[in-house]
Amino acid sequence: MGSGPVGVAVVGAGVISGEYLRTLSRFPDVRLVAVADIDISRAEEAARAHSVPVAGGLETVLGVPEVELVVNLTVPSAHVEVGLAALRAGKHLYGEKPIALRPDEAAKLLAEAGQRGLLVGSAPDTFLGAGLQSALRAVAAGRIGAPVAASTAVRSLGPERWHPSPAFFYQPGAGPLFDLGPYYLTALMALFGGVEQVAASTRRARTERVAGAGPLAGEAFPVDVPTHVSALLDFASGPTAASVFSWDSARPHLHFEVVGTEGTLAVPDPNTFRGPLRVRRNGAEDWAELPVQGRTDGRGLGVVDLARAIRSGAAPRASGALALHVLQTMTAVTESASRSTFIRPPGQVVPPEPLPVDWDPAAATL
Ligand SMILES: NC(=O)c1ccc[n+]([C@@H]2O[C@H](COP(=O)([O-])OP(=O)(O)OC[C@H]3O[C@@H](n4cnc5c(N)ncnc54)[C@H](O)[C@@H]3O)[C@@H](O)[C@H]2O)c1
Repeated sequence: MGSGPVGVAVVGAGVISGEYLRTLSRFPDVRLVAVADIDISRAEEAARAHSVPVAGGLETVLGVPEVELVVNLTVPSAHVEVGLAALRAGKHLYGEKPIALRPDEAAKLLAEAGQRGLLVGSAPDTFLGAGLQSALRAVAAGRIGAPVAASTAVRSLGPERWHPSPAFFYQPGAGPLFDLGPYYLTALMALFGGVEQVAASTRRARTERVAGAGPLAGEAFPVDVPTHVSALLDFASGPTAASVFSWDSARPHLHFEVVGTEGTLAVPDPNTFRGPLRVRRNGAEDWAELPVQGRTDGRGLGVVDLARAIRSGAAPRASGALALHVLQTMTAVTESASRSTFIRPPGQVVPPEPLPVDWDPAAATL
């Protein structure tokens, strides 16, 4: 199992890599060893900016013996190819969401890791942040009684207004369901466990969109995925959720509430690590703020939890198994919409262990 900090290579030096490199540099249980990208100059620039010793292509960083864990931040269509290469080189894997485009590909990653005794973790890790961990604690403490239902919605006009290379957001593996769904579904699964059946309807407002920022501004690109998704999700443990994911709406809006037998909990944006968290008990005139305790460091909490799991033999919380069930559920949503019927996602999942209130990724434990 090795000892000391876990050596990490970041693969994919695009927009989100900056947040990971910043956060991981502050956590002593991981040591940033290498950055890779198919665009080598991008890898070199990111490595220089964050004082990481090695930069290059994928093969180069997989050949570095100190790299034990690959953090895969490539575009969704490359997640499986890069992930399999990392596992076959004997490295543990943590990847951005979605874990794969299709559940059978994600299962292939988990099988490859299992055969080799390697661990797989996956974004999102926002549910390990202060806001959602406090929400989980509030529900476990009975603040709203027994959970009955949830309603979630996330709406905007889509990421092409700000992202410099937005075309991948409208290809399989993205769209509002596969891009934002993992935040909402992972949070719902942390609350309620696995999904038993789903029903959904989807629409696509436009077949083409136009980049709005950066050097590609003004260029049109195709839309090959639904851009408005309404889903009903029944959880095996009892609660039901109604969820909307839309990039067709001029009104930016997000909403996440859990209704229980004794009150309603207003859950913070599951794409952040922060609060606020509010409860409204049945009969109360207004909302009451609940304490928000935990980490707000940013993306990378799941990487530290995985690094510690590599050394201890424990199960990582932002696990590949959880990401697989999220993907099975999103795939079932898509299938339900095309077949106009309820669909049962094949797998199940055990909700991840909550973090201790004083869990500290900035402490050296390895
Ligand atoms: N941008 C965000 O705000 C954001 C937030 C959370 C999660 N994510 C997720 O992070 C991932 C990356 O998103 P991004 O916005 O950083 O994308 P991006 O296009 O800015 O960056 C992706 C990088 O991966 C590189 N790459 C692609 N294929 C590769 C391969 N086979 N080998 C090595 N490098 C390869 C590209 O050259 C590029 O530099 C996606 O899965 C996305 O869903 C993005």
